[in-house]
Amino acid sequence: MKIGMLPLIVGNWKMNPQTQTLSTSLSVQLKKIFNKKLEADVVIAPPHIFLESVVRGLNHTGKIALGAQNVHYQKIGSFTGEISMGMLQSYGVSYVILGHSERRRDGESNDAVNLKLITTIKAGATAILCVGETERDQNAHYLSLIEKQIRSGLATVPKARLSQVVVAYEPVWAIGTGDTATPSDVHEMKLFIEKILSDLYGRNMAQKVRIIYGGSVNPKNARELFIEGNVDGFLVGGASLHADDFLQIVKATIA
Ligand code: PGA
Repeated sequence: MKIGMLPLIVGNWKMNPQTQTLSTSLSVQLKKIFNKKLEADVVIAPPHIFLESVVRGLNHTGKIALGAQNVHYQKIGSFTGEISMGMLQSYGVSYVILGHSERRRDGESNDAVNLKLITTIKAGATAILCVGETERDQNAHYLSLIEKQIRSGLATVPKARLSQVVVAYEPVWAIGTGDTATPSDVHEMKLFIEKILSDLYGRNMAQKVRIIYGGSVNPKNARELFIEGNVDGFLVGGASLHADDFLQIVKATIA
């Protein structure tokens, strides 16, 4: 964990839950159990269509920030089915998850992720750039894939905006599989990502970027991954749909 920064824990609800009623009740539960100010930045990213119900459920708790799972890179116009940054911000969204592997799998390119990232940070929000390999090969080619995801994703991002960038390392093989990366794998990748950021921006500036881990994080493995992986927080899928589990994961990042 970087000195002088709070850990960041982001709950990615993905395409869950299935009804607005369930979304409201999960948010009400979260509001209830996140009743104390914790020394962590906590974000939940529901499906766009449930943003309003989550805002209602959380009822201005102030302890949980709102995130989105995607955004369109244009501000306004003829883009059927898309959601703009302005729309998201009108609900109070301050974080956007970008380049999640489940979107890359459906064809989202590094260039598209970069455009969305620029739109997000220009609007004053924080972009969570997801990177990660599908599999690990003997010759470590996956490292160059991750390097490319980072360099392309951050193309033209100026130093002055780096504090609005988070990199989430999410090995695809660990997402939703229960097959978590080991704490030492996570630590190694964190150092690798830091090295790329240092090459791009210099060592001091690179320290402004929080590097978080995602992939089958749960209340049992969170503490070890946090301490030994030495990450700045987590991106949590499945476990974020259970309010108690999510709270335990957040607590695992607090000394
Ligand atoms: P998981 O998902 O925690 O269910 O593995 C993580 C993610 O995809 O962000």
